[in-house]
Amino acid sequence: MNILVTGGAGFIGSNFLNLMVPRHPEHHWINVDSLTYAANLANLAGIADRPNYALERVDITEREAVRQLFERTTPAVVVHFAAESHVDRSIHAPSAFIETNITGTFNLLEEFRALPKDQAKLFHHVSTDEVYGSLGATGLFTEQTPYDPSSPYSASKAASDHLVRAYHRTYKLPTKLTNCSNNYGPYQFPEKLIPLMILNALEGKPLPVYGRGENVRDWLYVDDHCEAIWAVMEKGVLGETYNIGGRNEKKNLDVVHAIIRLVSEEKGVPIKPLQDLIKYVEDRPGHDLRYAIDPTKVMREIGFSPKENFETGLRKTVRWYLDNESWVTQVRSGAYRDWIAKNYDER
Ligand code: NAD
Ligand code: TYD
Repeated sequence: MNILVTGGAGFIGSNFLNLMVPRHPEHHWINVDSLTYAANLANLAGIADRPNYALERVDITEREAVRQLFERTTPAVVVHFAAESHVDRSIHAPSAFIETNITGTFNLLEEFRALPKDQAKLFHHVSTDEVYGSLGATGLFTEQTPYDPSSPYSASKAASDHLVRAYHRTYKLPTKLTNCSNNYGPYQFPEKLIPLMILNALEGKPLPVYGRGENVRDWLYVDDHCEAIWAVMEKGVLGETYNIGGRNEKKNLDVVHAIIRLVSEEKGVPIKPLQDLIKYVEDRPGHDLRYAIDPTKVMREIGFSPKENFETGLRKTVRWYLDNESWVTQVRSGAYRDWIAKNYDER
């Protein structure tokens, strides 16, 4: 089968391809990526030469390019990861989020709809729990929780989710949708909380905690997310939504302290100077207080359960950033520095 994986050079997409391409030589895997700042082909060095893998540099916002891509590659399955994914960037510059996340998804759905019915097997849409908005101190997100997004990022993902469901209802497209909690692991671009804190701690730079660090996120190791997506692709019901999470809620400040402890242990350096790097900075506007997934449906119906706990997953992640200095040096140059200056200098 020809499987199009959009956004396969980003964080989750590249981890997904690194797992699936060697495991499934019977499929032809086509990575569709426009290679934005968040992409990195070094993430795919281990599979780039495999005969069942190919890269197609295509921008999903360009309708004609997407049409030609579908014509060239005759896909049976689309796994749609490509997105603008960082909340803070969506606050500074929302336009690209609307274009890629909404129009890009629309273009893919339209071309998928144009495929011969016996060819189009599955459109799997990868989404986030942020579409549900913020929880208070109690409660969990279920598949029935009403959508209530807070940021331009989550609003654009919510719109894309609605389009996918509408295409299932209206045109009977074979779609599935997964909404996952926060991921962490290798190859994550260091604008997100966990890699930013690891790298800043390693370099003795300030650890910028938004507000009082009381916000809660529900963390899942990236490979567990990827395995859950594949399991839903294989066993899930068409038209259904599955929330993915590992019941691992943590306050941001506790995550930062866990990272500090691991960096201190792995590097063999004292912990106190690292703790002194914590800097409370101005909060994010519209900052959701708490996310927490109820994964009962994906666990019961699909048989998903995560392999990593937070302790083992975070240790692996810290080790990965320590062991991959050239990857880190490459992504932290150039445009990255401009972003850090823009987001943190005035906070
Ligand atoms: P990422 O930002 O690391 O990677 C996104 C990839 O999409 C990049 O390779 C980028 O080049 C590509 N891309 C962006 N715009 C494109 C365009 N117009 N055309 C083609 N390619 C384009 O994102 P990620 O963290 O890997 O997230 C992947 C997906 O998973 C997203 O849809 C995101 O909403 C979702 N998700 C992420 C998390 C998380 O914690 N990171 C959690 C749940 C869901
Ligand atoms: P982030 O990794 O941006 O993911 P998301 O906003 O999509 O959940 O942020 C995770 C949490 O960490 C969120 O509550 C914001 C907070 N945060 C900081 O406190 N400092 C930072 O420098 C960053 C990037 C995030």
